[in-house]
Formats: sequence, C-alpha cells, structure tokens
Amino acid sequence: MFPKNFLWGASTAAHQVEGGNTNDWTIWEQANNQRLAGTAIDRLRRQSGYGFSDDHINQFREEIKNPTNYLSGVACDHYHRFKEDIELAKSLGHNAHRFSIEWSRVEPEPGVYDESAIDHYRDVIKELRSRGIEPIVTLWHWTLPVWFSKIGGFESKDSPAIFSKYVEYVVRRLGKDVKYWITLNEPNVYAGSAYFVGLFPPEKRSLYIFWKTLRNLIKSHRLSSGVIKHLSPDAQVGMAHHYILFQATRRDLITSMLIRIADFVWNSYVLNRTMGSCDFLGLNHYFCLRFNLWRQAKIAAPTSDLGWTLLPETIYYSIKSLQKYHKPIIITEHGCADDRDKHRGTFITESLQWLEKAINEGCDVRGYLHWSLLDNFEWDKGFWPRFGLIAVDHKSLRRTVRLSAYTYLKFIQQHDGYTKTPDRC
Ligand code: BGC
Repeated sequence: MFPKNFLWGASTAAHQVEGGNTNDWTIWEQANNQRLAGTAIDRLRRQSGYGFSDDHINQFREEIKNPTNYLSGVACDHYHRFKEDIELAKSLGHNAHRFSIEWSRVEPEPGVYDESAIDHYRDVIKELRSRGIEPIVTLWHWTLPVWFSKIGGFESKDSPAIFSKYVEYVVRRLGKDVKYWITLNEPNVYAGSAYFVGLFPPEKRSLYIFWKTLRNLIKSHRLSSGVIKHLSPDAQVGMAHHYILFQATRRDLITSMLIRIADFVWNSYVLNRTMGSCDFLGLNHYFCLRFNLWRQAKIAAPTSDLGWTLLPETIYYSIKSLQKYHKPIIITEHGCADDRDKHRGTFITESLQWLEKAINEGCDVRGYLHWSLLDNFEWDKGFWPRFGLIAVDHKSLRRTVRLSAYTYLKFIQQHDGYTKTPDRC
C-alpha cells in the first residue's frame, strides 16, 4: 500500500556525475590524487569497523591504487548526456529524480552569475518534466566555488548570507518549474569529514572548526529556506539528513546512555535546529551502528563492496524514530556499492517492504530515491565503489542497466498507484 503519487526514482549529485567542473574538489583532487592512491588501502583498513575486509581490497586493489581513480575528470559526462540518462530513468519506471545544481558553474565569481549554466539546469528540468519525472533539486551537495573556498567556505561567518544570495538567484530563475527544493546535503557528514576527521577538503581536524562549520551550515539552511518560501510560497523545502540508526545490543545504563549521546550528536543536533524550517525531511540512510557498552558490536549481515552492512529493516526503524519531528519523509538516498550486483536487488525489494510496513502503520513517507542512478565519483574514494542502478564504463562512458534496476522497476509496477491515503502518524 503505497500512497498515490508516491515518488519513485533515484538520486545523483552534480560533482559525482557531471564532469568538467572547476571547484574546490577538482583542485584538491589534482593536488592529492597520488597521495590518495598511495594511502587508500590503509585508510580503508582503518574503516574496518564497518566490515571492510581483505577480500574487498583484493577485488578492487588495482583501481584503488591507481591515481587516476581519484580524478573526477569527465565523471559520467552527465552534463552532456543528461537526456540519455533521463530516458533510461524513465524506462526504469522512475517518476522522480533528485539531482544537484553545481554552485561553481552558476556563480563562478562572487556575484557574477552564468546564465548559460542556469539555462542548462532549466533544460534538465524541462527534460524531466516532459518525461513525467518530478525534479527534486538539491542546491548544495558538498562542492564549493573556488572563490568561496578561498574565503573559508562554510567556516566563514558570512557563509549563510553568501549561500542564500546564490539560492535566491537560482530560485528566481528556476522557481516556477520546481516544487521540491533540498537546501543542503548532509551537513553532518560534510562538516565531520572536512573539518573533524580530515578526509575531505580542506582536511582540517578540529572539533571547534567542525562545530563552527556545522552551525554555519544550519544557519545557511534556515536563511535559504526562508528565501525559497518567500519567492515560491508553494514550494516544498527540505534538507537531506544523513541518519545513522544507533541501537543497543544489551539493556544497561551505560550502553543506552552512549546510544542517546551518539544519536544526539549525529542526528538530533542538526534535526532539532533545521526541521522548523522544513516542509519535509529528506532521509539519507546507509548505516546502523550497534553498541555493546562502548564497543561497536559486529553485525551478521551481507556487506557491500565498501564493507557496509546491508540491513533492510533499518529503514523502517529509522522512519519510526523520526516520527517525533512530525514531518513527511522522502527517502532522498539509500543504496549500496555493489559492482557485481549480488545484493542490490534483494536489498531494494526487502527495504521497500519494510518501508511499506512503516506506511501501513501510518507513517507519512512520500518517496524513495535510490542512491544512485549511475556509477559515479565517490568523493575521496574515487570511482571504484559502484552505487549505480546503471553501470557506467568510465573509459567508454557506456551505460549498462543492472538487473537490480529491473527488480526495482518490478516493485514499482506492482506497488504504484494505490489510492488509499494512509492515516498520518
Ligand atoms: C552522499 C553521496 C555519497 C553516498 C555514498 C552520501 O552520504 O550524499 O554523495 O555518494 O553517501 O557514500
């Protein structure tokens, strides 16, 4: 029982698929790709808490150690091939598509806007609409214009005002064709990876700067959400939050206190401060961490190529625990790196069955957008982790639909179009 007009589709992000960008990431990639290739295996081993093993490393060793893996370059050349990709999405039963606008293309210099970039995104939206696909537009998915990174990016106290000016420009130009806006993608992952653990540019490691950046991102969300609502009062505004489900494997005071603290730091801190200026909650969900006292408990489940455990039921428990915000939920990302497509199909079907259970119990879930439509550039890990419903050969750029994409299509065909509106939670 999925509600009528449920949004079925997939997500992408500009820097991961477009190719040909010039932003803080491209500069960082060019300066660091040799080092990333040399240190990748150590870095991946350090993440073994997620279940990353020597088997995973062996399968991808050559690519992991190849410096060109870490250069986004032409990526999937989606900037030029978006029509072909949208046609494929349509053939796979999608009626919604999440993509992001590359800020560095739209505002290459401070206050100087490139009309041809906006025209490009207008064409993308037009193409989606002409195929009956609802565009869900992210305004920022981690990359910064070079000029903005030079003045400190979101570390700077001026960042909320600067970001909101860019948002104002985009919404003035595209607002009449867009219903769903996502202001920011995962402020917690970005601030944590760039300013606390130092994996993303600018590779800082400071609790204070992490916190300052996170606060500026929260302010940027609030301010830009107000701008969108002012210009397009009927628009639906959300933020994509990276939600980790924290669970205890034993009932004792220490474990449950630690779970509460972790949940507050990772989830509630951001959500409590942003949901007031959201019409919907964008849920990006990949992880469940289980604790036994202060130790991370091993989870017996299949793992993705990145060693992440694949537990279909966690989407249900995540949705349930987010009911306290009383917001409709759109799953804006959920998926796995699975080059050989061993687990993806089953993982999608079973996760959607759990999602259906949440809806049947009255939760207001409006859409499921799988991560990702295409194999893409996986940030500091480069191209080897393959998340796509559609495989992309990064040499020839040939697209090949994976079997799991048809499994998803079958699920959509069997479940789309029920008219009963579920009771709200
Ligand atoms: C990010 C994506 C990324 C995905 C898989 C999410 O946290 O939004 O850009 O590719 O995780 O790692």
